[in-house]
Amino acid sequence: MNARPPMTPPTRTQVGIVGAGPAGLLLSHLLYLEGIESVVLEARTREYCETRVRAGVLEHGTARLLDAAGVGARMRREGLVHHGIVFRFGGRDHRIDLSGLTGGRTITVYAQHEIVKDLIAARRDAGGAIVFEAENVSLHHLDGSAPTIRYRAGGEARELACDFVAGCDGFHGISRSSIPPDALTVYDHHYPFAWLGILARVPPASEELIYARHDHGFALLSMRTREISRLYLQCDPGAELDRWPDHLVWDELRCRLERPDGWALRDGPILQKGITDMRSFVVDPMRHGRLFLAGDAAHIVPPTGAKGLNLAAADVRVLVQALAAFYKERRTDLLDGYSDTCLRRVWKVQRFSWWMTSMLHRGGGGAFADQIQLAELDYVTGSRAASAALAENYVGLPFD
Ligand code: FAD
Ligand code: PHB
Repeated sequence: MNARPPMTPPTRTQVGIVGAGPAGLLLSHLLYLEGIESVVLEARTREYCETRVRAGVLEHGTARLLDAAGVGARMRREGLVHHGIVFRFGGRDHRIDLSGLTGGRTITVYAQHEIVKDLIAARRDAGGAIVFEAENVSLHHLDGSAPTIRYRAGGEARELACDFVAGCDGFHGISRSSIPPDALTVYDHHYPFAWLGILARVPPASEELIYARHDHGFALLSMRTREISRLYLQCDPGAELDRWPDHLVWDELRCRLERPDGWALRDGPILQKGITDMRSFVVDPMRHGRLFLAGDAAHIVPPTGAKGLNLAAADVRVLVQALAAFYKERRTDLLDGYSDTCLRRVWKVQRFSWWMTSMLHRGGGGAFADQIQLAELDYVTGSRAASAALAENYVGLPFD
């Protein structure tokens, strides 16, 4: 833990960043490496940000970006590098050789909150300003060249003058809603199912992730470490946790992940349990005046493709290049192209996440839909061309 005394937050910076999730923190750190100042304003406590259980799968390019930014040391030590994933259906396993199909690319299993810890430590070590528990954050003068952010901290009203504002405050933040609604096109799609996720103190029953399609619905076996499993079950949207006592969660996971040859899922103490609705959401453009949206503030994907965090990192990569070109060469073309550049990737990732979701969840489409799903799974696991397309998307599409 850092023992520095709390600093008085600056009143002026180059880039004001709302939100200390992976998008906001990575942006702040990468800007620092480019010699650009920023201040991060976060509504929650540091402890909350560092312990919130979310994503766990990093694309090849995301892991490399963290490494290149000098914040990958712990990820390299503690993260689990995987070369394949497994699809389980019809009582059998079908492995997708991610590395073999993508010229050696891999995914890394490393918890999102560990990345957040690494980034906060890096920002603090570099003297970076992060204001936790910033209340009533509001954005002003976004249309001009001198935007400001107002907020309250330590019981006092404060104002931060910036050149640019980055809205990295997630799906429920204030940045997106600071844009006049008629300036945005919104694409919103709800899925007729949700995920119940658990974190359990039990060694993962498989070395690699297992995506299972079963008549009872989808299940996913993932992990965080060699001692901690992360497991998910398809459930009804709006399902309540009280209806899912621990023993029922394990029974259902065992049933959906069972294999006739005696492969067994061991249970253990459940450390965390939560339900997430599934939704695809995109706003276009991802910019309004001097406000740039990045990560979940601009788009969310259903988690079946393991893409949300990776997409947030991809936006940030584009935004840093654009801001660096502005400050170093006074170029505005990359800032002007920010939204279009990001959205090209966003829509491909939406497509992949939607496709994975449609292929694996039971959605009440009847016997015909069931047979189409099984044919799709059979094809994607049986055809080298189809497996390669899946693998290319799963490890992360290349950057231009
Ligand atoms: P967030 O992580 O939501 O961060 C936003 C920050 O802004 C938060 O700290 C919030 O407190 C703060 N904030 C909000 N409002 C305000 C305000 N008004 N003022 C100041 N601060 C504010 N993605 C993957 O890539 N791989 C996976 O395996 C994966 N699995 C997932 C599993 C689950 C169950 C869930 C829910 C998500 C998963 N995701 C996954 C998605 C991933 O977690 C998100 O896409 C990611 O957190 C987005 O990062 P972000 O920084 O954009 O937003
Ligand atoms: C996770 O480990 O949390 C995880 C893995 C794969 C997914 C979604 C979430 O598709």
